Amino acid sequence: MKILPSIKNAYLLIDHDTIVDYGSMDDIQNLDADQVIDATGKMVLPTWCDSHTHIVYSGNREQEFVDRINGLSYEDIANRGGGILNSAEKLQNTSEEDLYQQSAKRLQKVIKLGTGAIEIKSGYGLTVDAELKMLRVIKRLKKEFPLKVRATLLAAHAIPKEYKNDKTAFVDLVINKMIPEVAKEQLANYIDVFCEKGYFDLEDTERILKAGKEHGLIPKIHVNQFNAFGGVGVGVKYEALSVDHLEEMNIEDIDVLKNSATMPVALPSCSYFLSIPYTPARQIIDAGLPLALATDYNPGSTPSGNMNFVISTACIKMKMTPEEAINAATINGAYAMGIGTMYGSITKGKKANLIITKEIPSYAFMPYAFGENHIDNVIINGQII
Ligand code: NIG
Ligand code: FE
Repeated sequence: MKILPSIKNAYLLIDHDTIVDYGSMDDIQNLDADQVIDATGKMVLPTWCDSHTHIVYSGNREQEFVDRINGLSYEDIANRGGGILNSAEKLQNTSEEDLYQQSAKRLQKVIKLGTGAIEIKSGYGLTVDAELKMLRVIKRLKKEFPLKVRATLLAAHAIPKEYKNDKTAFVDLVINKMIPEVAKEQLANYIDVFCEKGYFDLEDTERILKAGKEHGLIPKIHVNQFNAFGGVGVGVKYEALSVDHLEEMNIEDIDVLKNSATMPVALPSCSYFLSIPYTPARQIIDAGLPLALATDYNPGSTPSGNMNFVISTACIKMKMTPEEAINAATINGAYAMGIGTMYGSITKGKKANLIITKEIPSYAFMPYAFGENHIDNVIINGQII
């Protein structure tokens, strides 16, 4: 992760949607291109691969934001019936068309901020119909937008009011109805669970991951956001592609990730917004593990889909180097979406998904001069957006 290979004064050749060549301008030999983009003084990077978002949602939650400023915690708000249940009520009362339009606007914005591949979760439906509605919206986004979209079923995101006193019945519904239906309609690639105190425990998580796997859904879980109690081990046991959040980590969690193929994913904008600890990136990376960075874009804990901010925050607050942060936000993010062979780096044969920056002195300038937009152009599948 410490090494970010780069070429100064370089060319890059795209054929249709594919990177076909690159190298030093000194070595360029009678190249005849249809279109030339002059990037003098600029940098060309792979687009960001945002492997964890909840970009499909309805309305917003500014009131909870104000309530937290006035002293309530994220947990207090959830216990009052706010939080995820608040978003679920809004979403249940929103038409599929309206939900699509609201979500499409956000997707447009994040593409302009350099995101070229994105994972999107369900989880604000909490009923069979509303979860399917969310996943159909994700499917339509996938069809209408040029960027790569991966879909995740996060049916076990919170315990709906009606199941307050019978969580097992809700987990049964997820296992016996939602997972089979979603798998049958091929609406998701991944299965996710919010494994947390007050949400879903280790046993619920195991049951859901197992059922998901049996239906061809690969696990990716929310774990260790507020409490560390062994969820990372469950993720590894079920061969999760990624374990996400990890604000609270103990040594057992680090150890269990070694010799696994599971990618740890940090979401620093969530830590920033909720004022909770940052994922201990140094401890993770210095233990020889990889790390990916993603936004967690959602209305409750992270109302921002800006990967540039994520990278800055990772450098400033988590002591990641610019090289580590950029690798975490590109190639490692692509791995965490199962698309590493076609996305996440400038490699011959991979998709031509590229960021062209404004004129900047170095790539470290991007996280350094935080809060500013350093992107001039975004290219997706070889097309300038
Ligand atoms: O990843 N932690 C669980 N889910 C989201 C937040 C959900 C919400 O508050 O709406 C997250 O932070
Ligand atoms: Fe999340």
